[in-house]
Parts: sequence; C-alpha cells; structure tokens
Amino acid sequence: MNTLAQKKLLVGVTGGIAAYKSPELVRRLRERGADVRVVMTAAAREFITPLTLQAVSGWPVRADLFDPAAEAAMGHIELARWADAIVVAPATADFIARLAHGRADDLLSTVCLTTRSRLLVAPAMNQQMWAAAATQANVEILSRRGVRMLGPDAGPQACGEVGPGRLLEPDVLAAAIAGQFRAPRFAGVRVVVTAGPTREPIDPVRYITNRSSGKMGYAVAEAFAEAGAEVTLVSGPAGLPAPSGVALVRVETAEEMAAAVCAHMDGAQVFVGAAAVADYRAAEVASQKIKKTAEAMSLALIKTPDILASVARRTPRPFVVGFAAETEQLIENARKKLESKHLDMIAANDVSLTGLGFESERNALQVIWKTGEASLPAARKGELARDLVELIGERYFEKNRAENS
Ligand code: PMT
Repeated sequence: MNTLAQKKLLVGVTGGIAAYKSPELVRRLRERGADVRVVMTAAAREFITPLTLQAVSGWPVRADLFDPAAEAAMGHIELARWADAIVVAPATADFIARLAHGRADDLLSTVCLTTRSRLLVAPAMNQQMWAAAATQANVEILSRRGVRMLGPDAGPQACGEVGPGRLLEPDVLAAAIAGQFRAPRFAGVRVVVTAGPTREPIDPVRYITNRSSGKMGYAVAEAFAEAGAEVTLVSGPAGLPAPSGVALVRVETAEEMAAAVCAHMDGAQVFVGAAAVADYRAAEVASQKIKKTAEAMSLALIKTPDILASVARRTPRPFVVGFAAETEQLIENARKKLESKHLDMIAANDVSLTGLGFESERNALQVIWKTGEASLPAARKGELARDLVELIGERYFEKNRAENS
C-alpha cells in the first residue's frame, strides 16, 4: 500500500470540471506516504480554490510563475528538480497541446518543460475533444517522448455525453501512480506483443477483417513497458496511439504481421499474441474493383501463416503466450490451442459476452498453463493487462530459474 513512501510528487491541476477530484487524489497520494506539492493553472482556479488544495496537501499551492515570495522559497527550477514525478491531473486538451509543443507560458508548463523526472498525465475532457485528431496527435508526441498517459476513463461525462475522456477515479489514479515506482520486474527483457485485427484485401476497396479494436493488446504492451520491459508492439489497423515507451510497428495483413514479428523477434525473450489475426485470406486479390454482375459469387480463401505457432517453434525459444477468443467451451478450446501451438500460457476470453472482449473497454480472462490456471475477473483492460503481466512474470521467471538450475 505505502509504495509511495518518501516519494516527492508534484500534482499539476489544470482547468477542467474534473479538478474537483484533485483534492481527493492528493489525499490518496498522501495516504500512500507521498510528500505532495500542488501547482495550479489560472484556469484551474476557476474550478477549485488553492485553499482546498493547500489544506489537503499541507503546503501552500503554487500558481504564479512570477510570484517573488514563492520563487524566493523554492524557485520553479528547484521545484522541477525536487519532484520524483510530476502528475498532471486533470490534464485538459489545451494543457496536453501546450505540453506537446513545449510551451512555457505559465508555472506548470515551465516546470514540466524543466523536469528530468517522470511526467504522468491524466487526461480529462469531453469525449469528442479526446477523439479529435489534434489531441490524439499531441498524445502520440508525448507518448513517444516517454510521458505516461494514465487514462482517460470512459463513461458518462459532466457535459452529458458518454465516452472516453473522464479522469480516472482518484483511488485508481493513485494506484497507477504508485505502480510507476514499482521495481521494474521485466527490466532488460525484450517483449514483442501483437494487437488489433488484420485486414485481408479482396480487391482495391474491400477486405476481410474482424471486430478487434486493439485495446487489449495495447494495454498488454503498456503494462510490460510499465514493468520495465523493452516492448515492440506489432499492430494491425487499430487507430490507437502508441502506448508510452512502446515501439509501435503498424501493419495491415496477416502476412505483414508475420514478417514484422519475425523481424523483431531476434533477442526477444517473451512473445504475446493478442492480435485477432485473420485465419484466412482471399486466394486471389482482384486488381480492380469487383463488379456487381453475378447473382451469387463465392470467394476462395486460403490459410494465413500462424504467427503464434511459428514463434513457438523458434530456437532459442521465447516464452510464448497466446490468446484464445472463444464463443463456446472456453477452457476446452483454449487448452487445445495451448497444446497444439506448444504455448507456455494462454489467456482465454469469452467473446460472446456483452460488454467484454472485442471493442469494449473491459474484459475477463481465464489464464491457463500446463500445470495450473488463474481467473482474472472482469475489469478494465488496463488493470487486467497489469494482472496478466504479473502472472506471465511469475511463470517466465520460474521457468528461467528451473532452466538455469
Ligand atoms: O482488440 P480488442 O477489441 O481489445 O479485443 C481483444 C481480443 C478479443 C481481440 C483479444 O483479447 C483476443 O482474444 N485476441 C486473440 C484473438 C484471436 O484471434 O484468437 P484465436 O483464438 O482465433 O487465435 C488464437 C491465437 O493464435 C491468438 O493468440 C492469435 O493471435 C494467434 N493467431 C491466430 C491466427 C493466425 N494466423 N496467427 C496467429 O498468431
């Protein structure tokens, strides 16, 4: 619980309605042992008073870059150096844009630009603002620079709309922040993860695909990166930004995914196949759009390469984790895949359940290996991925110990 003991955290509060959750976040961080100071933007003060944040943090709140008294006590450069991490929560679309473009026109943006410590950003905004191409591009810039995005959550919003853009609840956020300081279990380990669907062309305008959004695989890649691994994520068309600290390789077809995995597996110790790879592709891809002339037509399909099975045949053999998407006999079918593809572990999900699995923000997994199994009950994909990475860690390090003894 006290994983934040003696950690110095600077909480940046920007101007959105979710600022009302910031005092609760500060309380949760202090309960975990952190020393917390707060910097507010001018807009944040329209939503919540500095006095409230002073009361819960136990320190005067900083708001002004040009405050001579505050600067004399602890200058902004010193403040940036003092923090073990800066957590901007809530981070508005405007602040994320300013951060991405290196602005330093108020105290919080200046401190963020100056710091060498880890920068954690918890977005909170209207779901359309979050989905906007400009915001996603800014998030991608920040992720590439190693800034960690915590959330956003999805659900009903203050504006009455529903979708992704909510600030994570303070206890979830505090746990995620504490997670950033956990000993990096996978430090020095190279991991390749696949995610998303593949697209198998029929002609220049049509293709075969499936309902995978990529969210599960991206969450797994992010959880490995949080655990210190060097992660390559090979993704089919998913339209998601690269998770923080993850090298993203975008592909379209199963064959491109197989080639990209093969190109990145040298030296990788762990492989996780979360992608919903098309099992079949069109035997012939028409060079022109197929005309609607015949009353009926059939399409000849041929098998795509089985990426997971071929990774499991490699020498030296990495630790191989597959996924099984099933609509019936979850455990039996997953066990068959574990054995026939010679996997170390398989994470089975029932994709017939509403609100879980494909496309959804949540999932539930039954994880199976030769000598045991574990249930990971329904949770947000981010949390589930962290639990899955924990389980993989237990089996992977045990196997390594056994092989080296
Ligand atoms: O992307 P989301 O919307 O978040 O949804 C998540 C998910 C449901 C896609 C994910 O949790 C999941 O189950 N991924 C695997 C989907 C799948 O294709 O399952 P499968 O049972 O058909 O395949 C078994 C395993 O073989 C998988 O690890 C798959 O990546 C792999 N495979 C399959 C075919 C193929 N040609 N090559 C492969 O590597």
